[in-house]
Amino acid sequence: MEVRVANVRKEFDRFPALHDVSLDIKSGELIALLGPSGSGKTTLLRLIAGLEKPTRGKIYFGDEDASQRTIQERNVGFVFQHYALFRHMTVADNIGFGLKVRPGATRPPKAEIRRRASELLDLVQLSGLEKRYPTQLSGGQRQRVALARAMAIEPRVLLLDEPFGALDAQVRRELRRWLREIHDATGHTTIFVTHDQEEALELADRVVVMSQGRIEQIGTADEVYDTPNSPFVYGFIGESSSLPVKVEDGQIWVADRPIGLATPDAPNGKATLYFRPHDIELLDGCNGCIAGTVAASRRVAGTRRVELEIGGGRQLVEIELPIEHPAAQKSRIAFRPRRWKVFPAQDS
Ligand SMILES: Nc1ncnc2c1ncn2[C@@H]1O[C@H](COP(=O)(O)OP(=O)(O)OP(=O)(O)O)[C@@H](O)[C@H]1O
Ligand SMILES: [Mg+2]
Repeated sequence: MEVRVANVRKEFDRFPALHDVSLDIKSGELIALLGPSGSGKTTLLRLIAGLEKPTRGKIYFGDEDASQRTIQERNVGFVFQHYALFRHMTVADNIGFGLKVRPGATRPPKAEIRRRASELLDLVQLSGLEKRYPTQLSGGQRQRVALARAMAIEPRVLLLDEPFGALDAQVRRELRRWLREIHDATGHTTIFVTHDQEEALELADRVVVMSQGRIEQIGTADEVYDTPNSPFVYGFIGESSSLPVKVEDGQIWVADRPIGLATPDAPNGKATLYFRPHDIELLDGCNGCIAGTVAASRRVAGTRRVELEIGGGRQLVEIELPIEHPAAQKSRIAFRPRRWKVFPAQDS
């Protein structure tokens, strides 16, 4: 099922939680909503589910305006961050619940519900645990039951709000891989909320980066990582270094020297240069490059992180060097970013 969010605004007592959000999701796509706390991820998910109504704008399921539809009619499966299994019901009854409460004509017979529950337990790799109660399961197992329950109603759209948020890193990684496999097997259109960038980049077909109630960028993992379109996305996804610079006639200047990077379309004035600390080339001499003095150096896994003082120590910038680089204190290092982007300074 395609889902289209069209110019949606959502206010809570006049506080705008979402400003003007538009998003097209293709049928069968696995989409991650990624953003810091309070950026509006849950609000957007609840609007799609029908648990909230937009203040303005519309949400379409296919060609149909979903705002005219109740939650039941939208037929979405929802998994919340905190386990929401029914404690007094067995695993099998939990999974079958959405089918059991259907009105008479659409309710499958008991045996069929049981069969479906056991099939789903197979899918989430928990077969044999039908008769257990939620308290007799681990956190990861409970979330898998919650997912099976959400899928039991054969939802048109599956909505997952930080389903693995409460679990430890190792279990999260396993469940992530497993969710991708299930998605590929079932083909449900799935919208997945997370504030973990690794999770979003690894799992999703496309990542929607949100900040302060707005969508900052939509793209594949490669697109949002390789070509961030705002300082926020640069800072939020992956490691980034930034340096205050000046743009003059299409050239970037650092501390009164051009550094050999051309930016023909950028306006003159103060700006900030962004790049990935590892994505640089080291240079011998400095004729048009960034040069600095090593202020600090530390080993991070297989690389060396070095902080350079630029322009007599007024600015610090972090770069990554191969482990065999000596990077002695106070030594001078010259480099140029390979891939980079310049944005006008926020305050100018
Ligand atoms: N029912 C509500 N009443 C008032 N304000 C709300 C309500 N729900 C959300 N908000 C506000 O809307 C903003 C977005 O909240 P939302 O829950 O969508 O963020 P989120 O991105 O899911 O954050 P988190 O990662 O912490 O779950 C927040 O500032 C929040 O305080
Ligand atoms: Mg949330």
